[in-house]
Amino acid sequence: MENVRVELGPRSYDVRIGSGLLPRLGRFALNLYAGRKGGRAVVIADSTVARLYGKSALASLAAVGFDSRLIRLRAGESSKTLATYGRLLDRLLSFRPPIDRSTLIVGLGGGVTLDMAGFVAATALRGLDFLACPTTLLADTDAAVGGKTAVNHRAGKNLIGVFQQPRGVLIDVDTLKTLPRRQIANGLAECVKHAVIRDERLLAFIESNVPAILACKPAAMTRLIAWNVKIKAAVVSADEREAGERAHLNFGHTIGHAIESAVGYDKIGHGEAVSLGMVAACELAVNRGLLSREDASRVHDLLECLGLPVKRRGLNPAALWRIMLRDKKNRGGKVRMVLPVGLGKAKIVDEITKEEFLLCCVVHGIKIRED
Ligand code: NAD
Ligand code: GLY
Repeated sequence: MENVRVELGPRSYDVRIGSGLLPRLGRFALNLYAGRKGGRAVVIADSTVARLYGKSALASLAAVGFDSRLIRLRAGESSKTLATYGRLLDRLLSFRPPIDRSTLIVGLGGGVTLDMAGFVAATALRGLDFLACPTTLLADTDAAVGGKTAVNHRAGKNLIGVFQQPRGVLIDVDTLKTLPRRQIANGLAECVKHAVIRDERLLAFIESNVPAILACKPAAMTRLIAWNVKIKAAVVSADEREAGERAHLNFGHTIGHAIESAVGYDKIGHGEAVSLGMVAACELAVNRGLLSREDASRVHDLLECLGLPVKRRGLNPAALWRIMLRDKKNRGGKVRMVLPVGLGKAKIVDEITKEEFLLCCVVHGIKIRED
């Protein structure tokens, strides 16, 4: 088992990673409250995760004295709405005896569930404690750590939410065994992202362990997730509210979000879009002399080897550019992007031009192109 501490002063917390941890959820939750016996714990999970792991989570909480309940939401990104958020609150506030400020909310599931459950916890009764129990690789390595919560709005993704850190994060790598391969690849895109912006040694670790990682071997997954959580924890500790370096975590995401929006959120995985976005951003970095052609190829080849897309037909670069102009992270109407500076470092570039974006898409063979 590995433990990573997210250092945020009085709001610091532990991320525990290993095999066989879900049955110890109750003990982990109880340890957050020295001297308290049980209380109320409400687990929020989507329908798929509730079926697979709901019973185990509830039993573990009940075994240490929690009065534990389960609330389900429909699986999938389409649940990340204010309407679903309202329904979750309706259920939570209908419990008898009623919930109170000592009620613990446990988010059990992927990034959708954690974003929703975290938002519910941050706002119900002006804030309840939240424990994150991620079950997708994307949530293990990204969504569970850092305190971003959100729902989508028709004007865009993740536009409504708050920052509120969890009290703790428990990652049972065994839950990855039931995760479809495509979802594993989605999470691996975020791992490659962390490696490119912060740690070339992580890139080498992934390159040397592809079969074990794709087979979700517990030892390899524990090491991989702990490594990624350490990187994310360091970034969040330095810049919790994304005033500076946390924005580096958006590497691949400016173009990736535009691709998701153009293709449709239900037609392409987030990690798949980020993979295409990283290939394109590497190409821009090569053109600006920030990254060598060999390093860009290394990233490209690893993504391909992990089963992630590195090219996609039918994307219209000019339409992507129009979407990128609306990105909420832009400043002063200029497209802002994170580009790698060699492998293991990144910088924010504020003045990406339409011409260089189109050039990188069309001429330099990124293969994001019109049919
Ligand atoms: P998800 O939560 O929709 O999970 C993907 C699918 O996998 C779902 O159908 C789910 O039911 C299923 N599933 C989950 N765990 C499973 C398991 N162990 N076995 C079998 N099936 C399982 O999606 P995701 O990819 O985990 O997360 C994407 C979301 O996360 C997006 O909404 C994104 O905005 C958000 N996100 C948030 C942050 C953050 O910092 N808050 C960071 C990254 C992504
Ligand atoms: N997923 C990006 C962040 O947490 O800032």
